[in-house]
Amino acid sequence: MRQAGICSIIGATLLASTAMAQDAGPVAGASASTAHPDLWPQARSRGLVDPATEAFVTELMTRMSLEEKVGQMIQADTSAITPDDLRRYPLGSILSGGSSPPLGRPDRSPGPDWAATVNAFEAVAMEPRTGHTAIPLIFGIDAVHGNNNVVGATLFPHNIALGATRNLDLTRRIGDATAQETAAAGIHWAFGPTLAVPQDDRWGRTYEGYSEDPQLVRAFSGAMVEGLQGKPGLTTIQVGRVAASAKHFLGDGGTTSGVDQGNTELSEAELIATHAPGYPPAINGGVMTIMASFNSWNGQKMHGNRSLLTDVLKGRMGFDGFIVGDWNGHAQVAGCTKTDCAASFNAGLDMAMAPDSWQGLFDTTLAQVRAGTIPMERVDDAVRRILRVKHRLGLFDTARPFADRPGVIGAPAHRAIAREAVRQSLVLLKNDGVLPLRPDAKLLVAGTHADDIGLQSGGWTLSWQGDGNSNADFPNAQSIYAGLAEAVRAGGGSATLSADGSFTDRPDAAIVVFGEMPYAEGRGDVRTLEFEAGDKQSLALLQRLKAAGIPTVSVFLSGRPLWVNPELNQSDAFVAGWLPGSEGGGIADVLIAGPDGAPRHDFRGRLSFSWPKTAGQFTLNVGQDGYDPLFPYDYGLSYAQGGSVPQLAEEAGVDASLANTGVFFARGRVPGPFALQLDDTVTQGAVDSPLLQEGALQLRWRGAGTARITGPELALSRETNGDTALQLQYRMDRVPAGPVQLTLGNGALDVAGLLVAGGWRSLRVPLHCFAPATADAPVTIRAAPPFTLSLAEARLVNGPEGAQCPAK
Ligand code: BGC
Ligand code: BGC
Repeated sequence: MRQAGICSIIGATLLASTAMAQDAGPVAGASASTAHPDLWPQARSRGLVDPATEAFVTELMTRMSLEEKVGQMIQADTSAITPDDLRRYPLGSILSGGSSPPLGRPDRSPGPDWAATVNAFEAVAMEPRTGHTAIPLIFGIDAVHGNNNVVGATLFPHNIALGATRNLDLTRRIGDATAQETAAAGIHWAFGPTLAVPQDDRWGRTYEGYSEDPQLVRAFSGAMVEGLQGKPGLTTIQVGRVAASAKHFLGDGGTTSGVDQGNTELSEAELIATHAPGYPPAINGGVMTIMASFNSWNGQKMHGNRSLLTDVLKGRMGFDGFIVGDWNGHAQVAGCTKTDCAASFNAGLDMAMAPDSWQGLFDTTLAQVRAGTIPMERVDDAVRRILRVKHRLGLFDTARPFADRPGVIGAPAHRAIAREAVRQSLVLLKNDGVLPLRPDAKLLVAGTHADDIGLQSGGWTLSWQGDGNSNADFPNAQSIYAGLAEAVRAGGGSATLSADGSFTDRPDAAIVVFGEMPYAEGRGDVRTLEFEAGDKQSLALLQRLKAAGIPTVSVFLSGRPLWVNPELNQSDAFVAGWLPGSEGGGIADVLIAGPDGAPRHDFRGRLSFSWPKTAGQFTLNVGQDGYDPLFPYDYGLSYAQGGSVPQLAEEAGVDASLANTGVFFARGRVPGPFALQLDDTVTQGAVDSPLLQEGALQLRWRGAGTARITGPELALSRETNGDTALQLQYRMDRVPAGPVQLTLGNGALDVAGLLVAGGWRSLRVPLHCFAPATADAPVTIRAAPPFTLSLAEARLVNGPEGAQCPAK
């Protein structure tokens, strides 16, 4: 497995201000998280409500039991439910999350395994049984850049790249192809488009947004909804359309410090102006579902905000589809848990995404309806909306001509659209005349991302984080190197792959493809916009080529604009390639000239996000006061219209150590911004680690006392909700007689029982055992003699094996 940069594997965030990631309830006094609907834009769902559908739903509802109604309101994940469970729990929907494979199959499985999974659940839902009302399921998946969980599917560039194309017709065609490939895997519902308007590029989901500019997001919204669903009223699964889900409502792109699932602190007018514009076109275009967001608005979680979910979205904006929750998002509402949240349903949530919590949530919700805590009218409204969508989508008609239809997934016509999108999304930032490259040139192709389809596709690719993929997992795809090689081979030239840039035969030019390692959601949150802060491997490669006098073209792959001034200075040409997906050949189409030396395709991409001049321009957005980017919004050079870039300043403007939010001890030292503090009773000495001479620190307790690693405040609620653990690599040299207290944030645990003597070991404690919201001392060990512990490493890791809470 590849090792991602610290900042990309660990989403922990250093707090710049006290963002409230957890619901603190509405801000006291002023009702700053209560919306005034008449201030909001109006909209009207089209194509969802019609007399025949409503009559059908009314009749059906008269036959449904209360259990069946509550079941419609709950969605489970395939990783935590079997088809058989549906006999006892008549749920209305199933999803497969980013890390959930098809039933009984490994991750990275092809279309037929998915269709079989959907069928297995559907068969039970539709089974004739006494006392059971047969109602089709709606099965959803994150088809966010193509049907990206399915092996062989066409992978389109992520939304940030589509924003750079400015091409709405192309986006519509991408939506159409994505819908077909989703329906061909038997799936009914795509959890997209993301209508976030990312305002702080440290946010790990920046690439899921089309633009920092609300008006551009507005334009893309209508195009993608029409692509996925077709024109209002024409969305049926029988013609290869799927339900879309505009997400995440509302303000996901506006959280303080760009913290995923954080708090969006804005006036109502700002929330409307910046974050709402994508929704009216989606609703007017007939979008069938809208996903509630994890974030808070002024301290109140969106899953519990009645004024926004009900009064604004269903009232003022006339939304007639249903609101689905995000992954246990209801659990973050004040007073709720994963299995108990009347407040969210009462606020207007129609279907809770309860991946692993569906059973408990079903039981509790049923009891709450019986007790009147959730009014029957609310249940009937939610169920009507869900059944309306199912009916309009054609799910009551069992014909599924697209499911398993051969030739749809990865169809050449779809791949051609994706390749067109790659070509059009490339933004030329700099060209000193080296581009286009002649087709008969002898090229060196270098860099970490040159021949790696997983890396060029980013997060949400076969796995949730987009990690762990190899080229063999992409049967219908081409790496960037393979595309370049094909183009020059056809033109009489040659391309040699050399990841580290070394060569024996001197090339005419080098293309270096490098960038961010894949990430999704909070794991992509970063602390500075400096690329490869503290570890400038790609820059070193560029410097070597420059020193050798080789003309060099950089192709930079990233989910956001990053500060790359040193890399720009070392490059003769520099292309922002975003996250292009399966069609690496689209890069060669633009970089490699035709036989006559003239470009085959010009650069057309223009920045939909402003490019920063320093690593500290986190919230650089077009239209703001004092706007001072390196490359402004809309920037993009072309062959037709050149433009040169002068030597750039190489001061990052931000302390690189801030990028480190998850490594507290490694290689014999405490890396910045963290520091070690020992009580007088604890002494230290260097010892060897398994890897390194003097790579570990031996801590000896001479009296009761504390060893503590301190640093700036870290926001950890996102990690605590997930599967992140604190991992210590240690050797216990003297066994303690009493407790060994390990503290993180506000949580303290006695880990004496988990420590094992004899050799180097790893202690892994899930963050949820500590339940920290924040921490300014990520590791504190309190003990009394006898106790001697050698420490080789202390860090946060995601999803490790064998993590456990100590016994109470
Ligand atoms: C994400 C959503 C996604 C859902 C299902 C959540 O964690 O925020 O965007 O649709 O999971 O995978
Ligand atoms: C799921 C994702 C989901 C995430 C939320 C993962 O395990 O696979 O789909 O978005 O959890 O934390």
